[in-house]
Amino acid sequence: MKTPARRTFLRQLGQGTLSSFAVPLFGADLLSSWKAAGLDNLQNNAEGYWELVKAQFHFAKGLHYFNNASLGASSAHIQQATNTFRNTLDGFPSKYMWGGWEDEKEVVRKKAAALFSVTPEEIALTHNTTEGMNLIARSFDLQPGDEVILANHEHASGTIPWEVWQETKGITLVRPTLPILPKTVSDLVEVYEKAITPKTKVISMCHIVNTNGMVLPVKEVAKMAHQKGILVAVDGAQSAGMFRINLKDLNCDFYTASSHKWLFSPKGVGLFYAKKESQKHLKPLIVARGHTDTSIRRLENYNTRNLPEVLGLGASIDFHNTIGGDRIHERTFELKTYFRSKLEGDPRFTIKTPAPDTLSGAIQVIEVNGRDVVAVKEKLWEEYGIDCRPMTGKGLNALRLSFAIYITKKDIDYLVDALNDLAG
Ligand SMILES: Cc1ncc(COP(=O)(O)O)c(C=O)c1O
Repeated sequence: MKTPARRTFLRQLGQGTLSSFAVPLFGADLLSSWKAAGLDNLQNNAEGYWELVKAQFHFAKGLHYFNNASLGASSAHIQQATNTFRNTLDGFPSKYMWGGWEDEKEVVRKKAAALFSVTPEEIALTHNTTEGMNLIARSFDLQPGDEVILANHEHASGTIPWEVWQETKGITLVRPTLPILPKTVSDLVEVYEKAITPKTKVISMCHIVNTNGMVLPVKEVAKMAHQKGILVAVDGAQSAGMFRINLKDLNCDFYTASSHKWLFSPKGVGLFYAKKESQKHLKPLIVARGHTDTSIRRLENYNTRNLPEVLGLGASIDFHNTIGGDRIHERTFELKTYFRSKLEGDPRFTIKTPAPDTLSGAIQVIEVNGRDVVAVKEKLWEEYGIDCRPMTGKGLNALRLSFAIYITKKDIDYLVDALNDLAG
């Protein structure tokens, strides 16, 4: 068994970044520079291709970042584009904040709509998932006795808005328990089916839960819910950008996402989808001049706002598309399978994320059996420079590991060696 050199990592961190300037870094004309380097051709050594993708991200020296589910990094291209927008804005602030970038903003909306196979009139450019969840929960005029289903793995951002904005009105939050290791999609659909009553008005569910990376069956639940006149709101914080998503096909009513995770956008930028027919239920969280706009733009009208970051989201979608949504999709499952193949069945570990691709993607959680996860996480950080998130709730006691596109198989080998080393 190969053992990574143990070291005190903290002493070495923070001096510069890891970017290797021996590999091409891509500038404003992303697609042409990508093509010029032959990167649009996967016939190259496939792992070499992903090494080049990794080189577009500038992590702190010595950091092994497996924590994308907490927060993504922006590639050099996305950083450059956003900085350029910031410089432009500061060159003539009033012009760009008040109308100068209207067309550019609409281009971002179109790109986001295409990414999710919906229309631009169904996309609002928001700040994050939490905002979208507040927007949904605050919009509804629910009555005493009405029920909202929120399974026990929902993130605080998806539960607190219901508690604060609606619970005082006497509605009931129904909290069914999801199995941690479902074998099939039906195991999860069944939980939602049983929780529905004639009083259910809304089901609010994650697309991917942040606890153990399980994918929830949005399409199946939406189909079942709509037959009973129930609306479905989806927390897409962990899914937007991780794999192909066709919101028309999923057919949920609302989908709220943070592009600063798996789309690598500037921080504090989010996407909000509302199906055309379901937009009538929504009211803006903030009202400002322009609030009488009947289009979806009324939901993103905050007056002065972070426009360079919003336009930077356009650059992050370009980055995603240059690599290719299909390629990213396949890579997600390739990395997951590679990781699992190294540790599955080893009696020293328990993988607490369901295996099938219909039930999980690039987030996997693993317990080092019999060891406190917080202590294991600390050791990984201090001795190997590995950052990940310890998940202590729901009986997990497990490390949450994210395999974003800047993670290579070599990185996974390093991680697995460290885990083997710690497990003894
Ligand atoms: C499932 C889920 N929902 C919501 C959020 C909150 O995201 P944000 O802070 O970007 O709104 C997170 C963050 O990790 C998440 O994992």
